[in-house]
Amino acid sequence: FAAAETPRPLAGRRVLITSGPTHEPIDPVRYIANRSSGRQGHAIAAAAARAGAEVVLVSGPVTIPDPAGVAVVRVETAREMLAAVEAALPVDVAVMAAAVADWRVATAADAKIKKDGSGAVPGLALTENPDILRTVGHHVARPRLVIGFAAETNDVIANGTAKLARKGADVIVANDVSPAGGVMGGTRNTVHILSAAGVEDWPTMDKDAVAERLVALIAARLGDLG
Ligand code: CTP
Ligand code: CA
Repeated sequence: FAAAETPRPLAGRRVLITSGPTHEPIDPVRYIANRSSGRQGHAIAAAAARAGAEVVLVSGPVTIPDPAGVAVVRVETAREMLAAVEAALPVDVAVMAAAVADWRVATAADAKIKKDGSGAVPGLALTENPDILRTVGHHVARPRLVIGFAAETNDVIANGTAKLARKGADVIVANDVSPAGGVMGGTRNTVHILSAAGVEDWPTMDKDAVAERLVALIAARLGDLG
């Protein structure tokens, strides 16, 4: 006995999503990372798939399960994530939810770095990682809709708004990732939708509910684009 027909507003659309942290090696046993769980990005991938989209999820190292009905490409580093993202183009929509490490160790050691017994500490020279969202936002194969996130601990709206233009994004989903809010690694999120249309404040919701509402926003915007 069939349930009510599920609406599939993203049928025929190809959607690319990044999620999770990246790990940047220091040596074969150590890395630089961050507190991202991948929950928000994975929830968006799942919601887009339920809405009928063909979804490619490029995920950094996470412990949560793969969403149903999604093609998952697993990567470790920012540079691997960029390569996987560019390989997935062209797409109709890109949602860059990953917490990409801003810096990597310039030259990761081939062998485990050892204490030398003197108490001297190794100096880690860092270099900036490629900006994946910015690359996609200015790409020759730019998706029709480019959505980024902004992880901020202060001046959330001002900092997020600056990222709109800098990244070449149509929409920035700004969230406050101060430790007190428990967003990073948690199940709930409070976001502000920033675009040329201004600021839309969404109430605090489960990350699944944020994902559902974001997919509705994507469907509406694609509809407006024709
Ligand atoms: N992002 C990315 N590649 C990077 C850094 C960030 O694709 N190397 C994307 C994130 O996935 C997110 C958006 O850019 O969609 C904003 O990330 P955020 O860390 O908030 O901004 P940054 O530009 O890195 O600036 P900062 O961390 O200094 O605030
Ligand atoms: Ca950053």
